[in-house]
Amino acid sequence: MSSRSLIPPHGGTLVSRLVDPAKAKSLATEAAGLPSVTLSTTEACDLEMIAIGAFSPLTGFVGKADFESICRDIRLADGTVWPIPITLAVDESVKASLEVGGRAALYHSDGTLLAVIAIEEIYPHDRALEIPNVYGTEDSAHPGVQAVLDSGEWLVAGPIDVMTVTPEREPGEQFTEYRLPPAATRKAFGERGWTTIAAFQTRNPIHRAHEYLTKCAQEICDGVLIHPLVGATKPGDIPADVRMACYEALLEKYYVADRTLLSVMPGAMRYAGPREAILHSLIRKNYGCSHFIVGRDHAGVGDYYGTYDAQNIFDRFSPEEIGITPLKFEHAAWCNACEGMTSSKSCPHGPQEKVFLSGTKVREMLKAGQRPPQEFSRPEVADILIAWATAEVPVAG
Ligand code: ADX
Repeated sequence: MSSRSLIPPHGGTLVSRLVDPAKAKSLATEAAGLPSVTLSTTEACDLEMIAIGAFSPLTGFVGKADFESICRDIRLADGTVWPIPITLAVDESVKASLEVGGRAALYHSDGTLLAVIAIEEIYPHDRALEIPNVYGTEDSAHPGVQAVLDSGEWLVAGPIDVMTVTPEREPGEQFTEYRLPPAATRKAFGERGWTTIAAFQTRNPIHRAHEYLTKCAQEICDGVLIHPLVGATKPGDIPADVRMACYEALLEKYYVADRTLLSVMPGAMRYAGPREAILHSLIRKNYGCSHFIVGRDHAGVGDYYGTYDAQNIFDRFSPEEIGITPLKFEHAAWCNACEGMTSSKSCPHGPQEKVFLSGTKVREMLKAGQRPPQEFSRPEVADILIAWATAEVPVAG
């Protein structure tokens, strides 16, 4: 089956803002004479997402009309569903060096020249509009809220031409062989003859509950895309390279190779719960997936969101305007009475029969060198996590 039968990208066209080597050379020469902007870690991730088309239809950082419409209505100004503003924020001193109609060079924090932006607008960063609408809270203890509060007071908008998306990182952080852009996953799906593909977003190691979701999805779709987020995450989340080792070990032993594709998603986490679930689904639509797994408290943090808010938000849109189909899963856990993975939809037994472990409890066990029960986590995954947790340098004081 050809890749033409895959779901169309969001907005209809797969964007590419990566320039060819000749153009990259001329842009680098131009950039030497341009004002410079150093991107935050999240902005650098966003730049990669725009460049490779994962944020289609966005071609750059959003302008004022889109910003306001996204915050208020979860749509771009033209009505296309879009849940989180993708912005480039600068402070007053950087703003003073920029002008509308001009261009600026965008740099990674390590000094790598990444892109040039054609500046169409510079406008005040309306955090008071963004924070409560996007995050549903104004609590600065929320990592997404804090990130917006820490960002600059001006927003710079316009299309970007991107020279590179993978500056020199530590070799293990690059995941080059897994860093498939949307055009490449689409090609891979076509080659495998898959037309229905369920995407699985994760920022954690895959434990038994996660595995259950992906395998239920495999029963109804041609294949599953295991698509861990490897962009910026908050302190305390497990580093991407440790997780990648877990995914590889798990897939090798417990997944059917020709029904499973492991690739990475270079976006940043915002912990925006429901709105981020919409963003995560639109991203996977761009990667060519027809279905998207949404479980309990998707992209949540703390107790800011209701357990199923991230599922319910999909009901605010018509299926056509989202395009990708959410696969909604109840809280899943091993049931000792059933002797299998279950949820309240499929199991009549009470919580006393379930193997539930809090994140805190799991961390304690790993640090103590103990495997969580195999009903919670596969031993191969647990051992990698123990090696990481016990090698960590204790924090002084
Ligand atoms: S997330 O930030 O990427 O959502 P995580 O990696 O923990 O965090 O979750 C990945 C996906 O699995 C999300 O869709 C989440 O809702 C779902 N999920 C995680 N644990 C469970 C569980 N026990 N039951 C049902 N869904 C779950």
